[in-house]
Amino acid sequence: MKKTDNQILTIFGASGDLTERKLIPAVFNLFKRGFLPENYAILGVSRTDFSDEEYRKKVVFDNPHLKASKDNPGELENFAKMVFYQSIDTKAVVDYQLLANRLKTLCNDCHTDQNYIFYLSTPPSLYSVISKNLGEAQLNTEEKGWKRLIVEKPFGYTLESAKELNNQLLESFKEDQIYRIDHYLGKETVQNTLVARFGNTIFEPLWNRIYIEKVEITAAESVGVEKRGGYYDGSGALRDMIQNHLLQLVSLVTMEPPARMDAESIHNEKLKLFRSLRPLTQDDIRDNVIRGQYLNSTIGDKQYPGYREESGVDPESRTETFAALKFYIDNWRWADVPFFVRTGKRLPTRVSEVVIHFKPNHHHLFSQRRIANSQNVLVFRIQPNEGILLKFGLKVPGNGFKVETVNMDFQYDGLTDAYVPEAYERLLLDCMQGDATLYARGDSVIAAWEFVDPILKAWKDDPDLPVYGYPSGTWGPEQANALIENGHGWRNPCANLVDDGLYCEL
Ligand code: BG6
Repeated sequence: MKKTDNQILTIFGASGDLTERKLIPAVFNLFKRGFLPENYAILGVSRTDFSDEEYRKKVVFDNPHLKASKDNPGELENFAKMVFYQSIDTKAVVDYQLLANRLKTLCNDCHTDQNYIFYLSTPPSLYSVISKNLGEAQLNTEEKGWKRLIVEKPFGYTLESAKELNNQLLESFKEDQIYRIDHYLGKETVQNTLVARFGNTIFEPLWNRIYIEKVEITAAESVGVEKRGGYYDGSGALRDMIQNHLLQLVSLVTMEPPARMDAESIHNEKLKLFRSLRPLTQDDIRDNVIRGQYLNSTIGDKQYPGYREESGVDPESRTETFAALKFYIDNWRWADVPFFVRTGKRLPTRVSEVVIHFKPNHHHLFSQRRIANSQNVLVFRIQPNEGILLKFGLKVPGNGFKVETVNMDFQYDGLTDAYVPEAYERLLLDCMQGDATLYARGDSVIAAWEFVDPILKAWKDDPDLPVYGYPSGTWGPEQANALIENGHGWRNPCANLVDDGLYCEL
């Protein structure tokens, strides 16, 4: 096991939703599993006035997202002892002296070294201010311990602003101190795409244009924008999910084998891949990028509001809650293989998966009408039930050679003693150990923006590009189906990994 140094985690945006829902629970799980170093502290930082005790009550004792073990009543108390709070005005450089002093005191009291992670879980407009102020207060220097900065998404709003943010961060921190988090990369099956490809002999020889017909990626959510209408209306599905999570996923599924399993080798391959994405022309954006917005509908006996009726959303909003696109990767391995990616809110179910469609075999021995035998399909189910499914043809018992598609699947929940860590848990531990493999490097984030930015510009500048409505609880606008040629359509996944071709969960 890698060594985890004694350290302090400082969370900016300490009274926010992410801290309560994901960050504190992630550290708590690491604590329960014995992954924290001997000396460790969490310092929450925000403007609100809390004492240490009040903050502990909020994020530990009253936090509904912490799952304490029933047989260990002292667990919460022991964890809470590591949690502290400091109120500062994050915009005021003078307040960073307060922070520096508090960190020093904590180092003495808790016997941690001066190894600090600063987690930016604030509105994005504060990222560059905080990093600059940390630099002014010398909290970026590494003479007496390492310093790391974790930056939450969204990383930029456009290509320009992403470049600007990157440059601003690099004024105070070096690239190897900056950890741009993308929680999709912390998901078990996302990492499994690498293991399946590069840890076996049977997949990689087929992983190219000669054997693969097309690749589909779906990230569907059944919820709407919930309480985040204000944020979401300024973002939309392309920025919220595709620019980051889904393009990161595309890169892992398609990149070349890295020389080594380390951050630099993987980041280099991902960058190469992003640079091979064929830029979308205006015609491609018109024909191959579909956006939609959910409309109100009744599912069962429940009435769901349309997007424009959600709180915080402009009643005339043209922000997309669904986006689907078709694109190509111009390199030796993937020339002419179409990629289809879609995501949306208020779809029939919550599911994310990657579907690899292999080409049909070239000689159809078992088909009377000489049409292609059913094709092989490999599915990586990322959530909710992590697993892998392979579809292939087998003989139906009896006379003749009737072929039927069968499923071979592996699901993690079948392993009773397998603990599947939450994405934030895995990623935080990696940062604590100085491993940036599952974080995004600046140049590849910019390269992903270069691909997405023309779509955002076209949507902004051309009012004729439609936003299609789709009833809540359906698989998005019909036009998205037409993207996949030959009438085969998308695999509309069900909650159960092996069911498909059905309209489930409606
Ligand atoms: C976030 C988006 O990054 O990812 C949300 O801002 C989205 O809108 C969420 O709901 C999806 O993540 P997960 O892990 O629930 O699939």
